[in-house]
Amino acid sequence: MLAIISFVLCISNLASSSALPATSPSPPKSSPLPLVVWHGLGDNYAADGLTMVGKLAQKVNPGTYVHIIRLDEDVSADRGATFFGNLTEQIAQVCEDLAAHPVLSKARAINALGFSQGGQFLRGYVERCNSPSVQNLVTFGSQHNGISRFQDCAATDWLCKAAIGLLRTNTWSTFIQNRLVPAQYYREVNETTGLGGDQYLKYSNFLADINNERAAKNKTYAANIAKLRKFVMYVFEDDTTVIPKESGWFAEVNATTQAMTPLRNRTLYNEDWIGLKKLDEKDGLVFRTAPGPHMELSDEMLEEAFKQYFGPDPEADEMDDWVLVDQEHDRAHIDGSMPQDL
Ligand SMILES: *[C@@H]1O[C@H](CO)[C@@H](O)[C@H](O)[C@H]1NC(C)=O
Ligand SMILES: *[C@@H]1O[C@H](CO)[C@@H](O)[C@H](O)[C@H]1NC(C)=O
Ligand SMILES: *[C@@H]1O[C@H](CO)[C@@H](O)[C@H](O)[C@H]1NC(C)=O
Ligand SMILES: *[C@@H]1O[C@H](CO)[C@@H](O)[C@H](O)[C@H]1NC(C)=O
Ligand SMILES: *[C@@H]1O[C@H](CO)[C@@H](O)[C@H](O)[C@H]1NC(C)=O
Repeated sequence: MLAIISFVLCISNLASSSALPATSPSPPKSSPLPLVVWHGLGDNYAADGLTMVGKLAQKVNPGTYVHIIRLDEDVSADRGATFFGNLTEQIAQVCEDLAAHPVLSKARAINALGFSQGGQFLRGYVERCNSPSVQNLVTFGSQHNGISRFQDCAATDWLCKAAIGLLRTNTWSTFIQNRLVPAQYYREVNETTGLGGDQYLKYSNFLADINNERAAKNKTYAANIAKLRKFVMYVFEDDTTVIPKESGWFAEVNATTQAMTPLRNRTLYNEDWIGLKKLDEKDGLVFRTAPGPHMELSDEMLEEAFKQYFGPDPEADEMDDWVLVDQEHDRAHIDGSMPQDL
């Protein structure tokens, strides 16, 4: 079994998801928004698990255009980029790719699904770019409040071992922060203040910034999160990979006593550093639990989430703009072929 924040998506009961949706002669009144998926550490965009997720999304909500984010068209380079790289640059690249994408760039909005670290990276996308803008953001087993420990890698995963070995040398050096992905959401807490530790605040290349933990707060970040319709955060009940697992709900866990401070009791929420309070006040913040260990998803679980959060938008106009601009794709779908770049 894989360890760290890994990683690779496991889905059970796939039998029912392999069938394509029945073809329908007329498009639905309002089509679902396109869905963008960002995978986790050690995974790659072409992995079977992700293709299955895309098919399942289309089965639940026929007509959904699915795009799996990739940092590189080359599969092993895309996997490598989950361990190595500078997240500022990786997110900027994803921003550019989505903004230039022939279908996504013309969508009225998109939905976003983040698996494990892909969840906080999509949140970074929303805060920093959000063009096309995200309507519903759903994250599974993410590390929104960082990790307080690096775990071990699978015995034969040399890429993972190389990465984690380096991480442990000096997490806060610029060299590591510029290159090692998990180091950029590693977080330490100051025992006196209960806030981010000095080194973390000074050197974190990603998390301290997107969580607006530094003195200078970026108002755009908060405004963009508050603009979401729903931000749904799933934590796996038996997650032993993400430490602490409640990071997926932005909770703070005392490393000594294990006492948990929920998001709504934290300064980050009460001073509304990133717009979560504002979102909560309009009922947009959703805390959910998924059964099982890290990233072991059943298709029932996913189907329920897709139905609830990625379905046709009842408030949308009869025809979404992107459907009008993308009739080629729509026809392809009705013909029953896979209308996307899975
Ligand atoms: C805040 O973030 C936005 C979006 O990434 C960026 O354009 C802007 O320069 C940032 N503002 C500050 C003060 O850093
Ligand atoms: C990460 O990349 C950005 C943009 O190129 C750069 O400004 C920043 O210094 C890099 N981070 C580190 C820790 O080197
Ligand atoms: C964790 O709990 C201990 C014991 O109550 C306390 O001394 C310490 O300050 C707490 N740590 C943080 C970061 O609040
Ligand atoms: C904790 O915060 C106090 C007060 O801001 C500061 O003086 C101290 O250096 C911090 N300690 C660490 C380890 O970050
Ligand atoms: C959170 O805040 C509420 C209201 O202030 C308080 O009743 C509760 O005990 C707090 N919970 C924790 C775990 O800090």
